[in-house]
Amino acid sequence: MAETARPDPIGYLDDVAATRAGAGYKRYMLDSLEIRPGHAVLDVGCGPGTDLPALAEAAGPSGEVTGVDREPAMVDEARRRTAGLPGVRVLPGDAHALPLGAGSVDRARMDRVMMHLDDPARALGALRGVLRPGGLAAFAEPDWDTLAIDHPEVESSLAFTRFVAESANRNRAMGRQVPRLVADAGFEVRSVVNAAPVFRDAATAERVLHLRRNTARAVTAGYLDQDAAERWLAHLEGTGTFIATASFVIVVAANGAP
Ligand SMILES: C[S@@+](CC[C@H](N)C(=O)[O-])C[C@H]1O[C@@H](n2cnc3c(N)ncnc32)[C@H](O)[C@@H]1O
Repeated sequence: MAETARPDPIGYLDDVAATRAGAGYKRYMLDSLEIRPGHAVLDVGCGPGTDLPALAEAAGPSGEVTGVDREPAMVDEARRRTAGLPGVRVLPGDAHALPLGAGSVDRARMDRVMMHLDDPARALGALRGVLRPGGLAAFAEPDWDTLAIDHPEVESSLAFTRFVAESANRNRAMGRQVPRLVADAGFEVRSVVNAAPVFRDAATAERVLHLRRNTARAVTAGYLDQDAAERWLAHLEGTGTFIATASFVIVVAANGAP
């Protein structure tokens, strides 16, 4: 549910969104936001526009949806994908200093963005600043230290998790920190859910966790030796009872009372 490898960032995000777990947590976030027709909705770190069409549908023709992303390639792709949706705009911008007016949005979401940020607390302050009083926000973040993949050689499994946690992104344990950071930013936390995906086949896990590529990188980085890596992959790809899971924390919060 996050970046474990970045050879093709847009393809990766599409692959994750297409998994059952990906579609399920995104639906949960959408429902939790209770978007009504006419709402102004913000998606911070919108990527290639993955969620913008669903947000636009919920906000209806009188609503408006704004996607913000700092990567020009993401902004371009999100604009391309939403070109036919009149209520949607996509702006280049930084989550730490959002290009929107104070109190100008009714609903906001941030989906696997805080794990990348230099200063998640400052970004939450910026988000609260643009959310109207009583507005709702939803956040989803993985917790890479909790990645657990079943394997008879538990040390290999732990070494793979350590490699992914230490190399995948800036804030490796963001999932568990979201409720505290959101509360410290002045939001009222409404719910905290662990939507941990459970991957039961190596092929799906490969699309999200890049088992082969990350195992090779873990060997290069000294986390696993070559023999252990070969046994690790041979078992994962040959077993009939594959299991991989990791905490994925979803927080819904309000900017004070409605
Ligand atoms: C894991 S992707 C998630 C994309 C999208 N939310 C989704 O679920 O498909 C993280 C996104 O956050 C963006 N991002 C990272 N740091 C950012 C920042 N400081 N300001 C705005 N966007 C940022 C990245 O460019 C990327 O598109």
